[in-house]
Amino acid sequence: MKITLLIKNASQVVTSRGASKQPLNGSDQRALTVIEDGAVAVSGEKIVLVGSTAEVLDKIAVDADTEVLDASGKVVLPGLVDPHTHVVFGGSREHELALKLQGVPYLEILARGGGILSSVEATRAASKEELIANGINYCRQMLAQGTTTAEAKSGYGLSTAAEIKTLEAIKAVDRAQPVDLIPTFLGAHAVPKEYRDNPDGYLDLVINEMLPQVVEKNLARYCDVFCEEGIFSVEQSRQVLEAARDLGLGLKMHADEISPLGGAELAAELGAVSADHLLVISDQGIEKMAASKVIGVILPGTTFYLCEDHYAPARKMIETGVPVALATDFNPGSSPNNNLQLIINIACLYLRMTPAEVINAITINAAHAVGLSERVGSLEAGKLADLALFTAPNYEYLAYRYGTNLISTVIKKGKIVVEV
Ligand code: NIG
Ligand code: FE
Repeated sequence: MKITLLIKNASQVVTSRGASKQPLNGSDQRALTVIEDGAVAVSGEKIVLVGSTAEVLDKIAVDADTEVLDASGKVVLPGLVDPHTHVVFGGSREHELALKLQGVPYLEILARGGGILSSVEATRAASKEELIANGINYCRQMLAQGTTTAEAKSGYGLSTAAEIKTLEAIKAVDRAQPVDLIPTFLGAHAVPKEYRDNPDGYLDLVINEMLPQVVEKNLARYCDVFCEEGIFSVEQSRQVLEAARDLGLGLKMHADEISPLGGAELAAELGAVSADHLLVISDQGIEKMAASKVIGVILPGTTFYLCEDHYAPARKMIETGVPVALATDFNPGSSPNNNLQLIINIACLYLRMTPAEVINAITINAAHAVGLSERVGSLEAGKLADLALFTAPNYEYLAYRYGTNLISTVIKKGKIVVEV
């Protein structure tokens, strides 16, 4: 087999192993293989061998065409996977910062027609080409910070045409740059203003018009709902998710973020792949998610940015057996951050997760949360050669430093796509 790329002499190659079938939970959440003086051999788009530099050099033949990367002083991780983003939207919301600093709550800004609804206005006004250009730009920022795969939600259109426009833009962004995007339909993100007095009418539109068209056009792999006080109730969420499931989509939820409605319990009952946010998840919700192996996607950057004083109970979730993933929740309002490296810091400091737990949460468990665990999320023979190289002596260093992009090289499908 022809080796096209060889990465050698890495201070550490760090990855989970053998977790492509089931997400890691409990004490396995921190199960990592750390190879000192590590190497990764790549053929075309795929990994063929991972081991110590001596082992790998012993087993493979390098020829004049093999690109050889000396990774001395670098930590090699699987390309990072961001399993919850809203990366395609119009406009931005920097003007809301002043309101937030005056103490106006997040849901109050929305009730005044701002928040999500102001991004809906900007997204409806934007052409598909503008959405694509912005999306490409945001994805390139993500790539430069080590993210090689991301989930991408619609949800700032909230009309059939604008939701389809957004999902088509997501598809175009996916094709136009290296970060692979997994599309999620989030028509039930908020009730748009034209349906303010008729939320059930909007639900009917989501279920009977949007969902069938999204599925018919093959524009989404998952369906998500913002289950929250004043947004969509548990019963309304159930209606949308059951309809989506019947049409063959996987399920996700924005659950138990601000009010403890019982979204986690619903996610477990419906067999959702993940429930996300979970700041105020109940003990019963934790137990049900653990029993049904629903992945808890925690978004601590959002908690940080909303200046909340309590974070999701990550320790309790891990100790009860919920597989935990982490994401940026990149969006124009509650989390204008698309850098998973910052999430490493916040998760360690405020969720009290260990660096090893965090690495698995942004690689293999995140890959499970987007249904791609057989292809990405770990460095194992046969998987895509998606790699992130950081200037660091060891992986704990990534949790220790913050605010600096430590990426030195990003490799997507065997090709160097970022070099610092
Ligand atoms: O995941 N929680 C709901 N939706 C987004 C926020 C969207 C917005 O504020 O624009 C979230 O935090
Ligand atoms: Fe979100």
